[in-house]
Amino acid sequence: MIPIKSFSERRRLLASQMQKGVAVIPTAAEQLRNGDAHFPFRFDSYFYYLTGFREPEAVLVIVADSDGGGSRHILFCREKDTEREIWDGFRYGPDAAREVFKVDEAYSIAGLDEMLPELLADQPAVYCLLGNDAAWDARVIGWINRVRQQSRSGITVPAEIRDLRFLLDEMRLFKSREELQVMRRAARISGDAHRRAMQKTRPGMSEYEVEAELLCEFRRHGAQAPAYTPIVAGGANACVLHYVENNARLNVGDLLLIDAGCELDGYAADITRTFPVDGKFSSAQSDLYQLVLAAQAAAINEVRPGNSWDAPHSAAVRVLAQGFIDLGLCLGSVDKVIGSGDYKRFYMHRTGHWLGLDVHDAGEYKQGGEWRPLQPGMTLTVEPGCYVSPADNVPPHFWNMGVRIEDDVAVTETGCEVLTSAAPKTVAEIEELMQHRGK
Ligand code: GLY
Ligand code: MN
Ligand code: MN
Repeated sequence: MIPIKSFSERRRLLASQMQKGVAVIPTAAEQLRNGDAHFPFRFDSYFYYLTGFREPEAVLVIVADSDGGGSRHILFCREKDTEREIWDGFRYGPDAAREVFKVDEAYSIAGLDEMLPELLADQPAVYCLLGNDAAWDARVIGWINRVRQQSRSGITVPAEIRDLRFLLDEMRLFKSREELQVMRRAARISGDAHRRAMQKTRPGMSEYEVEAELLCEFRRHGAQAPAYTPIVAGGANACVLHYVENNARLNVGDLLLIDAGCELDGYAADITRTFPVDGKFSSAQSDLYQLVLAAQAAAINEVRPGNSWDAPHSAAVRVLAQGFIDLGLCLGSVDKVIGSGDYKRFYMHRTGHWLGLDVHDAGEYKQGGEWRPLQPGMTLTVEPGCYVSPADNVPPHFWNMGVRIEDDVAVTETGCEVLTSAAPKTVAEIEELMQHRGK
């Protein structure tokens, strides 16, 4: 768990980087699914990053002074309500929330529209997450207009609306020791879930039965949810990059690609493993698999401080391009296959993304038009793959195979730490594990 004082420190750090003004950060809205049923509530990542508060219907306001020092942290949340709590469960209410979450002030969310124009009066700027939610943006403008209505009494209106992301994304990009501890645990649970999937998979099962094993492993270790919809893709389904139906039969001779990770206390893990349904790689499967594994090793080897964000991707593409030539999937020299983009027939996505509170986490990939250098604390995925759909000029023994291998990696002072090593990865490890899985 992230200690509460870390959330206050983040708010203070944010305020010290703001010019004089007021930041307004709501949590996510509850979403109706159908009828009276809601989607499971998930707090907004920015709001949670600054508060640790998990209830719906809450807004954080930070009033920052230009001297960079003083700032006022105000939480709006649901009031205590004995009747509603019988139906929906515990809620903190402003008084307890102020104590527990160490904000300066806390008020009922019902008072938001009344208080915001007062808080924005005579302030030069409003900071918000522009474009996140059109209805929310309109509400912010409504408060500014309310201030404007008082301008004849000498009150000044905020002259600027600034996007808070420029400051917050950069903060979120660098994970603290405490964040890395949570991410290690999320990675461990997710790695164990992949191991369990390998142990439970049998020919004749359905993809959803394997998905159930993953979800079971997530929940029984306290992860609140999957971090994204799991992909459990047997055979040709692995060539559909965002396949989520997960309802086909698993056949002898097919590979199974699983992309699944849990969310623990807000932090995501994101792991992909690919293994044979019957526990033994065929020769063609092994060729493709070992190629992707070599590409991943080359990419992980490039994850160190000072290297460009693009270095792992370039390394993976070079290994894959050479392999595609060696396996008869591409023709010509490595430079030509890379230069022409011919390799993209089999590898059409990039090799990773930032990872954190969001599975595709906040943070710029370029600075001043250049790929940014990797720095300690950044956390990313390394996920090369190879997807072969049937085509005239493609050797048929590779048709309908999809392989991806994805690990989560934190940049350290000297290199990197692979967070997801609990999930078996080499051909020998996978075959050994699956051979001993019993009937
Ligand atoms: N699971 C999402 C991704 O790999 O980017
Ligand atoms: Mn990923
Ligand atoms: Mn993934």
